[in-house]
Amino acid sequence: MLTRHFAVLATVLLVGIFLASLELSAGYSVNTLYLFPILLAIWVDEPRTAFRVAVASTLLLATATFVRPPAVSIGATVFSRSVIAINIWLAAFVVVRYRQSQARQRADATARAAAESALRRSDKNLEDMRYALDQSAIVATTDVDGAITYVNDKFCEIAGYARDELIGRTHRVLNSGLHPPDLFRDMYETITAGQAWRGELRNRARDGRLYWVDTTIVPFLDDRGRPYQYTAIQSDITERKRSEAALRDQEALAQLGKMAAIVAHEVRNPLAGIRGAMQVVGRRLAASTPEHAIAREVVARVDTLNGIVEDLLLFARPRQPVMTAVPIATIIADTVSLFAQDPRVAAVGVRIEPTSIVVQADAEQLKLALLNLLQNGAQAMRGRGTIAIATTTAGEWHELRITDQGDGIPDAVRAHLFEPFFTTRHHGTGLGLVTARRVIEAHGGSVTLDPAPGGGTVAVVRLPAR
Ligand SMILES: Nc1ncnc2c1ncn2[C@@H]1O[C@H](COP(=O)(O)OP(=O)(O)O)[C@@H](O)[C@H]1O
Ligand SMILES: [Mg+2]
Repeated sequence: MLTRHFAVLATVLLVGIFLASLELSAGYSVNTLYLFPILLAIWVDEPRTAFRVAVASTLLLATATFVRPPAVSIGATVFSRSVIAINIWLAAFVVVRYRQSQARQRADATARAAAESALRRSDKNLEDMRYALDQSAIVATTDVDGAITYVNDKFCEIAGYARDELIGRTHRVLNSGLHPPDLFRDMYETITAGQAWRGELRNRARDGRLYWVDTTIVPFLDDRGRPYQYTAIQSDITERKRSEAALRDQEALAQLGKMAAIVAHEVRNPLAGIRGAMQVVGRRLAASTPEHAIAREVVARVDTLNGIVEDLLLFARPRQPVMTAVPIATIIADTVSLFAQDPRVAAVGVRIEPTSIVVQADAEQLKLALLNLLQNGAQAMRGRGTIAIATTTAGEWHELRITDQGDGIPDAVRAHLFEPFFTTRHHGTGLGLVTARRVIEAHGGSVTLDPAPGGGTVAVVRLPAR
């Protein structure tokens, strides 16, 4: 009931009871009716209404005593009206308490509803945020021990694993072995200290493919500020890394071109002079003298040096290939006879599978490229064993496979294979593979080094079949 309506009703009732109480014939029991509006206040929202009515009733009760003095003794009247007043106040007290507890309950319920709706809203917000994140980023969550508890679709997609293959395992499944342990130690120290870690990681997908991800790892902290889970948010930057590397190569190449011109001029000519002079000196010395052996040694060293300079020039100043149709068997045979001239590979056998495939190629350049691959194979076998060369046509590609029986390529080496000047050999230049790849790519093809069954390596050269 509204307070306003009740005020009118209560006033009418109180006045009515007051007037009735003045009529002595109605008897004193009329005064007990004052309880009625007080009890009615139980339906009024304003909790203290009953008190107001009680005040009014008490005043009216007292007033009536003075306006129309009682017929009986004044003492008895005051006593009986006091009893009624006590009842009125008791009733008022009960009603007010009841109303107050009602009001409190209602306030609680409202607060609870507000809290619930806020919670629902923030739940929804959270869900929306997660959806947005899942749409845009590669996301994984792990517990404190690093065991994966959640991965999104993008994560599964780029890593090439099914979700249940990842849940429960650690990020180590994806470790490419290409980062120094320091990086992971730094990451671990940062996130266990409750701070976000940011960096670029190179991971290995299930099929062995490497990919780069820009990674932010955010620790989620409990009340005591200790991480209870970690969320990794990643984006694929493989493409960016690739173009950065290509740019670096290009810049290095431009520098190298300049240097090669100088080397060609300033080094090659004096080398030729030294070689000629040493040959003359050597011829003058008796073959049995130690000096004769030294002279021959110098010539051999100069030849090696010349080889390196040639490599460098070839690499730094690539020539456009001039394509003609050549039987691949011819190219292979020529390459192998060039290869066999090196005394260090005398114990290496080459098995060639016959083929009648004809390719469009710059024969001279292609021979050099294949020679590099053959030499690498022979070196990996430490100068003994058999290299197999087989050619097939698969779809749009001719595929030439050079398989060695060497030790294979460790992961740490594989990551740098095609980088200029990367070598693991004492006298290597690290230019063989880059040069080979440059030539083969200029032919519209590609070259990869894959593990061969039995532990060696197979160099796969693809040339367009057209
Ligand atoms: N067939 C192979 N087996 C094992 N390792 C290889 C093979 N081919 C190349 N490599 C590795 O790649 C490196 C780079 O090769 P390359 O570019 O030809 O330079 P270099 O022969 O001067 O070292 C080699 O030092 C070697 O570690
Ligand atoms: Mg080489």
